[in-house]
This record gives sequence, C-alpha cells and structure tokens, in this order.
Amino acid sequence: MTLSTEDKIRVLLVDDIPETRENLRKLLYFEKDIEVVAVAMSGEEAVKLAKQYQPEIVLMDINMPGMDGVAASAAISATVPGAQIIMMSVQGETDYLRRSMLAGAKDFLIKPFSGDEMVNTIRRVHSLRPRIVAPVAADVPSHMVTMPGSSPKKENQGKIITLFSPKGGVGCSILATNLAIALRSTAECRVALVDCSLQFGDIGVLLNLTSSHTIAELSDKRGHIDAEVLDIILTPHVSGVKVLLPPAHPEQADLLTADHLRETLAVLRRMFDYVIVDTASAVEDKTLAIFDLADRILLVTTPSIPAIKSARLFFEVTGALGYAEDKIRLILNRAERQSGIGPEEIAASIKHPVMLTIPADDRAALVSVNQGIPLMMNNRNSPIAQGALKLAQALVVELSPAAEAVAAPAGADREPAGILGRLLRK
Ligand SMILES: Nc1ncnc2c1ncn2[C@@H]1O[C@H](COP(=O)(O)OP(=O)(O)O)[C@@H](O)[C@H]1O
Ligand SMILES: [Mg+2]
Repeated sequence: MTLSTEDKIRVLLVDDIPETRENLRKLLYFEKDIEVVAVAMSGEEAVKLAKQYQPEIVLMDINMPGMDGVAASAAISATVPGAQIIMMSVQGETDYLRRSMLAGAKDFLIKPFSGDEMVNTIRRVHSLRPRIVAPVAADVPSHMVTMPGSSPKKENQGKIITLFSPKGGVGCSILATNLAIALRSTAECRVALVDCSLQFGDIGVLLNLTSSHTIAELSDKRGHIDAEVLDIILTPHVSGVKVLLPPAHPEQADLLTADHLRETLAVLRRMFDYVIVDTASAVEDKTLAIFDLADRILLVTTPSIPAIKSARLFFEVTGALGYAEDKIRLILNRAERQSGIGPEEIAASIKHPVMLTIPADDRAALVSVNQGIPLMMNNRNSPIAQGALKLAQALVVELSPAAEAVAAPAGADREPAGILGRLLRK
C-alpha cells in the first residue's frame, strides 16, 4: 500500500483473490499518472478504505463472498461521491453487471482484460469526473448554464443529429443509442437522446430505462418549454446521456405537435453539445420539423432492394423540399457479404455516397436489445459499437466550428404543411 501524490489518479483496488489483486497492482505500477492508494480484499473493507483514502477510481470485483461488489458500490456511491466505480466481472454476469450500473458503477471491464484496456478505462472514467466540479457537466442543473439571455454558450449551439429510415427495422434506434453513448464517451460532452418515434419508441427498452417522466408531459407546455422543464423530464442513463423518453401510450403521441418538437429541440440544443433524435418511419410534419432543425440527417438503410428503393425516393423528396444533399448522410447497416449488394452499387443506385458501412452482427444485436445494455457499454469491439464510434468521430469533425465555417448553411425553412403542401408551394 502506498500513499498518494498530488496529480495522479488515485485508485482503490478491490478483489478477494490475492493473485488478482497483485496482478492488477503490477499492471498499474508503471503508469505514471495512476497511483494505487489502497487495496481491499472484501466489500466491507472497500467501503472502509474508500472513506479513509477518498480514491477517485475504485476498481471493484463484482463477485466476492460477504458484501459483494454491487452492495459495496452502492455504499461507496452514497458515502464517497467523488469515487467513480469501475466494475470487474467475468462473462455471463450480465444481470449482476446491470445491477451494479444501477448501484452507481460508471463502467466495467470483463475479465480477462489487458493492461491497456484497464488503464484506458480508468483514464476515461476519470476524465469524466471533473465534470462534477466544473460547471460544464451534463449533471450540472441546466438552468445554471442555459438560462435564456445568460448563456455564455449562446454562439455555440449544440448540434442536432437525427436518424431516419423510410422503413422500420433497419437499425435507427440501436444506432441512435450507441451513437449517443459514443459521442458522450469519445468527445466527453453533453449528449441528449430524444425518442421522437412518438407512438412506439423503444429507446427506453434499448437502454433499460423507465421513468414516469416522458415527452408527453410537454403537451400542455407549448410556448413554455424551457431548460428547467426539460431538466425534470430528462432521464439520466448510466452512460451520462440524458434521455427524453417517448410517451408511455401511443395515443399520447397525438398531443404533441411539430411546434412542440421545434420548441423542445431548440431548448435542448442550448443545453447540450449534441442532441440525437430517433424518429418514426414516416415523413410527416413532425419529422420535417426535426429535419429542418437538424444539422445532420442520418439516413439508415440496409442492403436490400426495398430499402434501397425507399432511400432513393427519400433523396428525391428531400431534394424537392430543398434540403441540401450535404445535410444528409447515408449509413448502410446490417451489411452482409452474402446480400450480394455492395456499398458502391448502393451509392451508385441512390446517387449518394455511403458515409459508413456497419456489418451485420445478429447475435450481439439480439443480446444487447434483449438485455437493454447498448453494445457501446459492454462490447465495444462489436461491429455495431465500432460503427457507432466511427460515426461519432466523423460527426465531431464534420460539425466542428472549423469545418462548419467553410460549409454553406443547409436546410429548408420552416413550413409546417406536410410533404405535398411543401412541394406545391415550391
Ligand atoms: N448491424 C446489425 N446487425 C444485426 N442486427 C441488427 C443490426 N442493426 C440492427 N439490428 C437489429 O435490427 C432490429 C431493428 O433495429 P432497430 O434499431 O429497432 O431498428 P429501427 O429503429 O430502424 O426500427 C433490432 O432487433 C436490432 O437488434
Ligand atoms: Mg426504432
């Protein structure tokens, strides 16, 4: 056991197996920015040492006799708020893991993991920590940073990225969740995820999130939707993403109009750096309101003839409506070699380049969807999580102020009159 020095990341190691404790300690020994300040061999000892040493990171074994990692995490989260917990588990403990995330763990490592994986996770989780102190965190009450008129970030509006597909079932929602988490973890910024698939939105299921607060509460607040109202309605996910859940009942969708969505998104973009919007598969007034405000429309398609046909029609319609082509990015999801249709053929057929191809990974997708744990949380190497990461990185670059300065502003004016109405007015 050694004592701390000022600038290092202070780590508490917790594992009941002596060899594991020793191995972890050795792996961290040579990291100049990390210091193991204490080592505990049980949950009870971990709680005691956490209070005593006030570590910034707790590497916690999930499965220990007596007080297990989940109970110890809950106790540490309650008593040492500065400590960020990273849970260590073996494959197959997903239910356990889910409970530990609810108990306050920030991330997890699946054993066996490499030294690099561990060190990267420690640094990543630690880098999110100062947000509690600095007034830029997603956790900071939004009215502190976003009250109209007082916002120092007035010029710096957040970016709205929406995912759309003319056909359901192509992966919009799974990509929306993973993209939001990828942005949050790579760009370390404030991210909101809005489920505008108002009738049958399933973002809550994909994130295993439930709340009595949903977007339906905004129905009688038209003209008065502000950061304070939204702060109450947004549901926090363990990843740090704040989620605006869809109405609990499909009929409530009718209570929300395109104006509600416009107002909501305009406020959200002042509160967050990125606002990710999942949509229903219909080009109607509400969807067009989202498209108008969006900085990017990610059109998700799959390598099947009906999906490609719909995507082509989509470009025709959005072109006729005056949306700049450059605002729309084509994402090819569930790309299987055996489909026989490659990205080049699709790009040629739709006359629009494919920004990103994401391979099919049926098993990982199914497990993730059924567990309510996005792949970005526990299977970052999976093709879908990797795709989301690449997408996040590309969008951060594309939407940076420097890149925007050279790009022409895009988008049609607000015209709430449906596709036909808008076309007739052209
Ligand atoms: N790359 C992929 N590989 C395999 N299955 C996928 C992939 N992307 C999505 N899926 C699966 O497709 C189904 C529909 O995804 P979802 O995100 O709900 O689509 P949408 O929102 O477009 O209706 C889900 O069951 C999901 O697991
Ligand atoms: Mg969906």
